[in-house]
Amino acid sequence: GKGWMTEHLVQYQGVWLTPNAALKGLMWVQDHFKPRSTDIFLATFPKTGTTWLKALTFATFNRTRYGFADHPLLTTVPHGCLPFLDACPNDLDGFPSPRLLSTHIPYTLLPNSMTVNQSCRFAYICRDPKDVLVSKWLFMNKLRPKELAPISLEEAFELFCQGISHYGPYWDHVLGYWKASLETPEKVLFLKYEELKEEPSVVVKRLGEFLGHPFSLQEESEGVVEEIVKLCSFENLSNLEVNKWSVLKLLSTQITIDNRHFFRKGKVGDWKSYLTDEMVKRINEITSEKLLGSGLVFGS
Ligand code: A3P
Repeated sequence: GKGWMTEHLVQYQGVWLTPNAALKGLMWVQDHFKPRSTDIFLATFPKTGTTWLKALTFATFNRTRYGFADHPLLTTVPHGCLPFLDACPNDLDGFPSPRLLSTHIPYTLLPNSMTVNQSCRFAYICRDPKDVLVSKWLFMNKLRPKELAPISLEEAFELFCQGISHYGPYWDHVLGYWKASLETPEKVLFLKYEELKEEPSVVVKRLGEFLGHPFSLQEESEGVVEEIVKLCSFENLSNLEVNKWSVLKLLSTQITIDNRHFFRKGKVGDWKSYLTDEMVKRINEITSEKLLGSGLVFGS
C-alpha cells in the first residue's frame, strides 16, 4: 500500500482506495444499494469541485422550496445537504424520490443497476489535473496527524502522476465519465470546474435542464440563476459561520474533517504558485497521452 495518510491506499480493479472507508463503501454500493430510476448522482474525483457542485445542485433542484434569505445552505454545510452514497447512509430507503446523492466511485466500478439497467442520472465535474493535484496535496497535509511530517510536494506529485491517489488514477476517472457522457448524454452531464468559474450562469442553466427543472423565462428575468450562483459562490459559502466551524464526520470511519478545509482558494490556475516548469511539463505530457483521441482537453 502507498499513501498520503496513515491509512494506505490499496488497488482494487485498477483503482486506488482506502481499504476501510472507500473500499467498504464501494462494496456496500455494489452489494446492497438499491438504486431508483429517478436517482440523481453527483460524481466527482476528490478536489475537483464536489462541495461547489453539491451546493449548486441542491440550490437549483430545491429553488422553489426555499427562499434565498433563509436558505438551508446558509446554515448547513453542502456535504450535509447532499449526502455521500459511499458513506453507506442507512436511511436511504426512506428518502423521498427523486434522491440527490453524491459519489466518488469511478463510472467503471458502478454496479450495472446504477448505469445500464436504470435511468439514473449523473452530473460529473472535472478540473485541470494540476489544480487537482495542488488542491489535494494541501488538503491532505491539513488532514495529516500533527505528529507526522507534512508530505512534500515532490512526493505528492510523484504519487499523483503514478495514479496513486484516492479513487485514482485521476485521468481514468475523468475518462470513464467522459465516455459515458458521449454514449448516453441524457444520463451523464459532463462539466468542468473552469467552465463553471468562467460562466456560472450558463452552467447552472444546463444543470437545471439536466435535473429536469429547466429555468423558466420568468425565473431568468427575475435573476434566479444569478441568486443561485451568488449563494453558492466561494466568497459567500467560505465566509458562512457553519462552513468555518463545523466538523464533518467522514464515512463510517473515525475520520473527521474541519469543514473549512473544503474551502481553500477556489481559483483556476493556482498551480502556477507551486509547480516547477519540469513538473508542469511532465503532468501535461501524461494528460495529453491519457486523453489522446478522447476528444477531451483541459486548459493550458
Ligand atoms: P482549491 O484547493 O484549489 O482552493 P472538493 O469540494 O471536491 O473537495 O474540492 C475542493 C476545491 O474546490 C478547493 O479548491 C476549494 O477551494 C474549491 N471550492 C470549494 N467551494 C467552492 C466554490 N463555492 N466555488 C469555487 N471553488 C470552490
